[in-house]
Amino acid sequence: MDLFEYQARDLFAKHGVPVLDGEVIEKAEDAAAIAERFGGRAVVKAQVKVGGRGKAGGVKLAADPADAVAKAGAILGMDIKGHTVHKVMLAQTADIKEEYYVSFLLDRANRTFLAMASKEGGVEIEVVAEENPEALAKIAVDANEGCTEAKAREIVEAAKFPAEIADQVVNVLQKLWTVFIKEDATLVEVNPLVKTGDGTIIALDGKVSLDENADFRQPEHEALVDHAAANPLEAAAKAKGLNYVKLDGEVGIIGNGAGLVMSTLDVVAYAGENHGGVKPANFLDIGGGASAEVMANGLEIILGDADVKSVFVNVFGGITACDAVANGIVQALELLESKGEAVTKPLVVRLDGNNAELGRKILTDRNHPLVQQVDTMDGAADRAAELANAK
Ligand SMILES: Nc1ncnc2c1ncn2[C@@H]1O[C@H](COP(=O)(O)OP(=O)(O)OP(=O)(O)O)[C@@H](O)[C@H]1O
Ligand SMILES: [Mg+2]
Repeated sequence: MDLFEYQARDLFAKHGVPVLDGEVIEKAEDAAAIAERFGGRAVVKAQVKVGGRGKAGGVKLAADPADAVAKAGAILGMDIKGHTVHKVMLAQTADIKEEYYVSFLLDRANRTFLAMASKEGGVEIEVVAEENPEALAKIAVDANEGCTEAKAREIVEAAKFPAEIADQVVNVLQKLWTVFIKEDATLVEVNPLVKTGDGTIIALDGKVSLDENADFRQPEHEALVDHAAANPLEAAAKAKGLNYVKLDGEVGIIGNGAGLVMSTLDVVAYAGENHGGVKPANFLDIGGGASAEVMANGLEIILGDADVKSVFVNVFGGITACDAVANGIVQALELLESKGEAVTKPLVVRLDGNNAELGRKILTDRNHPLVQQVDTMDGAADRAAELANAK
């Protein structure tokens, strides 16, 4: 989960990373009192989870409280790379002398943590990495040792930070490492880390991604979720414990196993080319032990998606045999109908693997008017795409 800048700022402050005072607002008129508190001047910053806000006009210096209200009013509602600005942060102004870059991240390819640092901050770090790679120091950080003082010094030296700020940056790096570890982050990035006129080092802009796999031991992270931005179907699926991702097509997909579901998306997209360009409407993996209840939950989410015109249930029986899945489908439809939910979208079911024959017989005997069976994956994808296009 990516955080907003103001949330990153709060986590930095919590763990002792030096930041400036800042406050987030949703109404422009609230900017006046905050700018007043900061002594009149303030930086108004769009809070969107996308980079390059400054270049897009989403970071502006306000000269006085009235100007802060005007700038906040101009930035709120702005569209930055497809993200609407619903909140702005007012920050104290910094007297910037130099801008640097530092980050810690999970380096999956090398199975380690990585520190990156550069004297050339403020700009997009991807550009530095591309055009001037020797200006971006990369130092592996051992998970067991962490960012010790010696490691922090190694990073500072590799990035050739000026000697007069070395001690301060060493301290900031260690504090940032604390954020990284204590908050179970996969990325903490400061761009820019600035030196001010009086030689103080401050984190002016922060980016943090949290590892959702650690949510169970980070109860406070729940409060950081941007519920307004969450897709309501994804939120409902998450509440039911389903692995569901909303896509923008018309064919609802249910499968067992992430790999099978991924390839189902491919064959449906391919089949859709012959049927008006229909596409998969979602990813949904009901997993190995697909009980009737799980099947019902999955169907309920997918049938609740107004974009869905047909549903493709693609199951390869393994540990969970096809007869159990077929019973699950039958019970799921009965469950939904008993709840008064009109099931009106056609279901194309393909059963293969363990006990496929028996599974198919159960569905044939049940003879539900909306359920049709096709024995091959390609054939079923084609039929589901055709039905979606016909609607
Ligand atoms: N509090 C501040 N005081 C003075 N100048 C600031 C302040 N915050 C930001 N700036 C200036 O604005 C520039 C852009 O700000 P910031 O890094 O927060 O946004 P950005 O880099 O455009 O956005 P993103 O990091 O999302 O790409 C900074 O490099 C800095 O020069
Ligand atoms: Mg920045």
